[in-house]
Amino acid sequence: MILSVENLVKSYGKHSVLKGINFSIEVPEVIALVGPNGAGKSTLLNAICNLIPINEGTIRVLGFDHKDPKMFHHTSFLKDATVLYPYLTGLDHLYFVQRIQKLSKTRVDEVTLKVGIKDYASRKVSTYSTGMKQKLLLAMALMNQPQLLIMDEPLNGLDPTSIISTRNLIKELHQEGTCILLSSHTLSEIDLITKKILFLDQGKVYLEDLSLSTNNAEKSYLERYQDVS
Ligand SMILES: Nc1ncnc2c1ncn2[C@@H]1O[C@H](COP(=O)(O)OP(=O)(O)OP(=O)(O)O)[C@@H](O)[C@H]1O
Ligand SMILES: [Mg+2]
Repeated sequence: MILSVENLVKSYGKHSVLKGINFSIEVPEVIALVGPNGAGKSTLLNAICNLIPINEGTIRVLGFDHKDPKMFHHTSFLKDATVLYPYLTGLDHLYFVQRIQKLSKTRVDEVTLKVGIKDYASRKVSTYSTGMKQKLLLAMALMNQPQLLIMDEPLNGLDPTSIISTRNLIKELHQEGTCILLSSHTLSEIDLITKKILFLDQGKVYLEDLSLSTNNAEKSYLERYQDVS
């Protein structure tokens, strides 16, 4: 079992966001988490990675309870650029991850090459564009060669070339056996990456396998959400 979420309930005060989420991922696949703004995608991903407290439920990641920091030996979470330090360089960030995860230094060269950030890795993050930061975050997330890679809107701010290279990287990682759970609003891109979509709707999730239907992601999305006012 790679990930199992059972009866996950999460409220912010009286505002109930996740109302009993149940799903599991058993084999390495690419799953896109989809839903309108405010549906609770980031809340779900943050809860899985134990970045926010949950009200109820059990979450297990690669055999670990999600509150056990050991789960991060084989899991990475790519969130947003707020975790970056402007006055440090990209390489500073990567060597920091290398040290705390006790990885080989050569891994830094491998990921800078794989993600294509070699040209600017020695520059301070304060000089990076949004897409450059996004790629540094991806490089940091890949340092530990994760079995499960969780990403909250990894395509945000990327130019077309970077979207294509990120798409190819996701496919490559998947072929290498990495399981990927990513949220995105770019339905056309999701269609190019995966057939498995986890829709978040009114606090519950619904897994849809588009290979079993004639729908594309946009058609499924509109069928599910068009009546929501
Ligand atoms: N720290 C917080 N305190 C109170 N309410 C919050 C907090 N974080 C999120 N919410 C609320 O929870 C709901 C879900 O937010 P969340 O950020 O998980 O949505 P999302 O699906 O990731 O949206 P988006 O597509 O805009 O990223 C929203 O109604 C939001 O206002
Ligand atoms: Mg979000």
